[in-house]
Amino acid sequence: MPSANQKIILTGFMGVGKSTIARFLSFMLKCEKVDLDLIIEENERRTIAEIIQTEGEARFRRIETENLSRVLVGNNVQIIALGGGAWITEENRRLIKQHDFTTVWLESSFEHCWRNISCSKRVRPLAKNKTEARRLFYERQKFYCLADWHFIIKPDLTSFEIAKKIADEVF
Ligand code: S3P
Repeated sequence: MPSANQKIILTGFMGVGKSTIARFLSFMLKCEKVDLDLIIEENERRTIAEIIQTEGEARFRRIETENLSRVLVGNNVQIIALGGGAWITEENRRLIKQHDFTTVWLESSFEHCWRNISCSKRVRPLAKNKTEARRLFYERQKFYCLADWHFIIKPDLTSFEIAKKIADEVF
């Protein structure tokens, strides 16, 4: 069980498995989790792809920060899965620290993330092709490195096994 004040944020590149791992973690630890992308889509009543495609990435980032700051003050939330770009925004990192969340970077190879991105039905406007996604992946490493914990995702582990290891090591 997580300690009463242990609050975790999962970050990492698109396709690394943040949402699935957060779901398993909340199930194992019997604590409340929030998926930031889902909250944004519920509040906006449209998909993130629609927001980015119609209003651009800058507008999406503002919406993302507004939703994150609301989610961070939620009393019972102990696990938050971010969208892959949320941790890159400096203001979001500041807000997260201010609210005493510990950030775990789910680190994986680009090829592993790309396999998941290309198999997924989810539309990711910022990873439309492999070249663009690879560029973003390497550009972001220096920001993901700023997370409190690094957790290396080995491709032979299932999401359940990964969640179990995080639960054992981090909580
Ligand atoms: C993004 C990642 C997406 C989503 C949006 C932008 C990014 O979330 O927030 O499409 O900039 O990396 P996932 O990491 O869950 O795919």
